[in-house]
Amino acid sequence: MAEPIIVERTDAGVAWVTLNRPEARNALSKAVNLELARLARELSGDRTVRAVVLTGAGDKVFCAGADLKERKGVPAAESGPYIDAISGAIEAWARIAKPVVCAMNGSAYGGGLELALACDFRIGVVGAEVGLTEVRLGIMPGAGGTQRLPRLIGVAAAKEMILLGRRVSAERAASLGLMLAVVPPAELRAAVDGVLAELAACAPRSVALAKAAIERGSDVVLDEGLRIERQCYDVTLFSADRDEGLLAFAEKRPPRFTGR
Ligand code: COA
Repeated sequence: MAEPIIVERTDAGVAWVTLNRPEARNALSKAVNLELARLARELSGDRTVRAVVLTGAGDKVFCAGADLKERKGVPAAESGPYIDAISGAIEAWARIAKPVVCAMNGSAYGGGLELALACDFRIGVVGAEVGLTEVRLGIMPGAGGTQRLPRLIGVAAAKEMILLGRRVSAERAASLGLMLAVVPPAELRAAVDGVLAELAACAPRSVALAKAAIERGSDVVLDEGLRIERQCYDVTLFSADRDEGLLAFAEKRPPRFTGR
C-alpha cells in the first residue's frame, strides 16, 4: 500500500510533505493525523530543515478534511481520540518553528482548510475552492477554524464562510487575504520555489523569531505583544547573522546567513 504521507528533503533544507491518499481526496484519517503531528514536531526540531512545504497528491483536491468514512463508524461518545488527533495535528503544524508554505494543489474543505490555515503562507491554484463546510454536515469547525479564519480574514468574511458553509473560489480567498497567490496548476511548483528563494535570502532565526512574535503576540494586549516582540528582537540583536547582515550591507554584497 502507498505511504499516506510522503516526505522529501531537498539539499536546500526544504522538507516537502505530501498528503498521499488521492483516492480519498487526501482526507485526514486518525493515523494520518497522528503521523502529521509527529512529523511537525520532528521537522520543527530538525536543524537541517529551513522551511517546510505541505501539499497534496492529485490534481483537484488538496485535502477534503476529516475522514468522514472513518468517522461514520465511530459513535459520538467514542470520537474523542479522533477529534484530538486532528486538532493535535493542526496545532502541531501551527507550532512549527520555521516557515511553512501550503502548496494547495486543489480545493480544501473542513479540516483540510484548517490545516492550511495553520501554515504561514498558502498558494492556491486556479479552479480550486476552499470552505469550512462543517455546518452543512451537522457539526462545526473544531480544529481551529472558528479562531484562525476570523483572525486571518476578519469576522465578517469568516462568518460568511463558516455560518453559511460557503465554498469560495481560490481567487476570492486570495482577495480576502487567505492566499498569498493563485496560479495555474502547472505553475504551482515555481510559485512555491519563488517564496522559498525569498525565504532563503532571509536570516533563518530572524524569520523564526518574527513568526513566534506574530503568533504569540496576536492574542494578547498591545503592551504585552510589544514585550514579546522585544524579547524576540533581543535574540536577533546578539546573533552572528545580525553582524553579517550589517557587514554585508556595508560591503554592498548579499549576506551569507548561517542561522547563528
Ligand atoms: N473523507 C473520506 N473520504 C472522502 C472524503 C472525506 N472527507 N472526501 C472525499 N472522499 C472520498 C469519496 O467518498 C470518494 O470515495 P469512493 O471512491 O470510495 O466513493 C473519493 O474520495 C472521491 O470523492 P468524490 O466525491 O467522488 O471526488 P470529487 O473529486 O468529485 O469531489 C470533493 C471531491 C472533495 C469535492 C468531495 O468528495 C467532497 O465534497 N467531499 C467532502 C468534503 C467535506 O465536506 N469536508 C468537510 C469535512 S468536515
